Amino acid sequence: MAAQISPSILSADFARLADEARAVDGADWLHVDVMDNHFVPNLTLGVPVVESLARATDTPLDCHLMIEAPDRWAPQYVEAGASSVTFHVEAAAAPVRLAREIRAKGARASMALKPATPIEPYEDLLPELDMLLIMTVEPGFGGQAFLDIMLPKIRRTRELIAKHGLELWLQVDGGVSAETIERCAEAGADVFVAGSAVYGASDPAEAVRALRSQADEATAKASWACSH
Ligand code: DX5
Ligand code: ZN
Repeated sequence: MAAQISPSILSADFARLADEARAVDGADWLHVDVMDNHFVPNLTLGVPVVESLARATDTPLDCHLMIEAPDRWAPQYVEAGASSVTFHVEAAAAPVRLAREIRAKGARASMALKPATPIEPYEDLLPELDMLLIMTVEPGFGGQAFLDIMLPKIRRTRELIAKHGLELWLQVDGGVSAETIERCAEAGADVFVAGSAVYGASDPAEAVRALRSQADEATAKASWACSH
């Protein structure tokens, strides 16, 4: 599978969200960070803004819920128009039930792990998911430095995906840029969230293309991709 780029509108101008969404028309997804000021110390947007964004762009929405009680709220984001909904396992009361509900409502179900959350306890859950998100910063803010210490977790997750023969996508989020995307791809990521690296660029659409080609080249050389 070709690398997919998901620009994060957290780094966009929130007063011009429709224009900012269109500025990355060639992106595979638009990453929408939902923060509730409880699960993370920051507050962004909720269901009504996602509904409006879904009407404003043809790019599918990838909603990353950094909120408490995702079991209660995640299904509403599918109804609002999200094509992929990511909940944090640290906040979910019943992750399997929630993933099934997201899928039943017609969206891709995705589960996120904060940097200190290991993948191993969740090996048996992976078939219930369409994507796993490995956070490469502590969630809450854009523009933070990439945590290289997450690379072994990305590698181990890619091995689990291969071991079970899953179609699961492996997303990374936080500090992904021209300097770090190749390391992520080499380790096994195939969906890349980028906020400041896209919206901080003078030409966001060109930044998406450049990141994708860097990731594709690194993947072509990666051992995990060769064995497929
Ligand atoms: C952080 C968010 C990220 C953020 C990434 O908690 O989940 O999606 O927008 O921003 P950058 O790419 O600037 O690290
Ligand atoms: Zn995010």
